Amino acid sequence: MTPDDAEIAQLYAYPDTDRPWVRATFVATVDGAAHAVDGRSGSLGGEADTRVYRVLRSLADVVIVGAGTARTEGYRPASLPIAVVSRRLDVPEALLVPGQLVITTADAPADELERLRGTVDVIAAGEGRVDWAVVLDELARRGWHHVLCEGGPSLLGELVGLDLVDEVCLTVAPVLAAGGAPRIALGPEAVDRPMTLGHSLAVGDVLLTRWVRDRALG
Ligand SMILES: NC(=O)c1ccc[n+]([C@@H]2O[C@H](COP(=O)([O-])OP(=O)(O)OC[C@H]3O[C@@H](n4cnc5c(N)ncnc54)[C@H](OP(=O)(O)O)[C@@H]3O)[C@@H](O)[C@H]2O)c1
Repeated sequence: MTPDDAEIAQLYAYPDTDRPWVRATFVATVDGAAHAVDGRSGSLGGEADTRVYRVLRSLADVVIVGAGTARTEGYRPASLPIAVVSRRLDVPEALLVPGQLVITTADAPADELERLRGTVDVIAAGEGRVDWAVVLDELARRGWHHVLCEGGPSLLGELVGLDLVDEVCLTVAPVLAAGGAPRIALGPEAVDRPMTLGHSLAVGDVLLTRWVRDRALG
């Protein structure tokens, strides 16, 4: 039986912290593919995953999402700010409206940076690559401590590499995909980040799991 929204909200409550807490949410197939044959992930987890996705958004202060995912999945403005991460500033037009954010590097294309600053909130930090310490400070300065990273694999891979992911909410979808779909995190270096299981919940054949970074273990 699918838990109701109040039960889901209780299961996924953010911990009390005085710093931004970075939660990532993903769905993967049994064999670890991060998207279905159509190249998108939305359909993979069915109703249970969609419901968790909605509740996770309701608990968050801000969503951060890679430009690749925002483009592929057709992101649109929502009830909370969407922060698109893009080095090239290739942000879907639908998200270039007041109330949305763009996260980029300080050396991103200057003209485009100026144009975006006229419409959306921009955090430009780091040379060559985003300086996430500055970004998280900037999010905290805006009063946003509940950060929800909705992917995709390149963005999650970078955050895992920097050990900035506090939690992963992973739905395992009951399907095998094979093919060339990426895993949920892709990065230049392999790392070893111990996690502990917060909960696992089977809703029919869909498995909803929550994993918390265990920094005591390394
Ligand atoms: N299974 C799931 O739950 C899930 C979740 C999300 C996405 N996906 C799937 O993943 C696929 C998209 O993968 P992707 O690797 O393209 O995803 P992505 O990480 O969303 O996008 C990569 C792009 O985002 C920007 N970007 C990401 N990290 C950045 C960083 N640290 N600094 C600056 N820019 C950064 C860059 O954009 P610019 O090129 O504009 O500079 C980069 O080209 C889609 O098929 C989608 O359906 C699956």
